[in-house]
Amino acid sequence: VALIGAGRLGASLALGLAAAGYDLVAIGGRGSPATLEFARRLGVNAVSPSEAALSADLFFLAVPDIEIGPLAASVPWRAGQRVVHCSGASGLDVLAPVTQAGGLAGCLHPLQSFSRADGEPERFRGVTCGVEGEEPLGRELEQMAADLGGHAIRLEGVDRALYHAAAVFSSNYVVALMAAATRAWEAAGLPPGAARSALAPLLLGAAGNIERRELHEALTGPVARGDIGTVERHLAALEDERELAALYRRLGALLLDLPLSLDGDTRERLRALLSREAAL
Ligand SMILES: NC(=O)c1ccc[n+]([C@@H]2O[C@H](COP(=O)([O-])OP(=O)(O)OC[C@H]3O[C@@H](n4cnc5c(N)ncnc54)[C@H](OP(=O)(O)O)[C@@H]3O)[C@@H](O)[C@H]2O)c1
Repeated sequence: VALIGAGRLGASLALGLAAAGYDLVAIGGRGSPATLEFARRLGVNAVSPSEAALSADLFFLAVPDIEIGPLAASVPWRAGQRVVHCSGASGLDVLAPVTQAGGLAGCLHPLQSFSRADGEPERFRGVTCGVEGEEPLGRELEQMAADLGGHAIRLEGVDRALYHAAAVFSSNYVVALMAAATRAWEAAGLPPGAARSALAPLLLGAAGNIERRELHEALTGPVARGDIGTVERHLAALEDERELAALYRRLGALLLDLPLSLDGDTRERLRALLSREAAL
């Protein structure tokens, strides 16, 4: 196996595959100090992508989405080689040069956020990996997902942009929610530097509830309780923060689509309150 792109995902993937017994023979890249250091740490050669193509049968292209197509087009692939990208939003069409050369194209996309460039292979544990590939590569990737500690879900026929939007909502946009929470925290007069450490445990608690229970059972707070007065007070307090007020309403209205145990009157009063016109 050779890996091209030892960045945030690539480093974790390389360490995970090596720990699972795969024979990692090369790290391909642009010769950046980070790539050279990572290859040295693994005890494998750091080479150019084209040199990597000479040395392995199976390739992971863990480069930014926009680089996958140009990179695939720049490497002289050989018949029988298997080339896998890790982008949730891209189909296999970006690897057309591989199939044109007689190789097999695939995708392995872990539904996990890897934010450290030194590698966190343990973060594959229990993770669903979206997998797509011409056979026998597809089945091989299913096995790899299991070997990394996760499990595979097949992506053939799936709308990749919507699949990836789901991933963005559950990961990146949680960061956006924390940015909104921090603005409200600061507007309340609390010390800005304390927001992250004070609010993160709340976020983790909610995430833990979601992991264990259905969404409507995991929900706590004023909407779940039917606490109309508290929602009214929040909206009044957010009057000067129009963007936050609009966000609060939109997200609250989504909660009302869950099968919460609210009586019909409370649900309708909350819906009226939360759907009131608010310009974004
Ligand atoms: N990070 C995640 O949580 C995550 C999760 C799921 C899927 N993914 C997918 O994984 C892929 C990589 O994302 P990432 O977050 O790991 O990116 P990243 O941290 O920016 O790392 C990208 C790596 O690719 C290398 N690179 C960039 N352009 C290159 C080129 N033209 N030729 C060779 N190497 C090149 C970079 O090397 P230099 O050191 O030279 O810059 C770097 O090592 C993307 O397709 C992404 O959608 C990421």
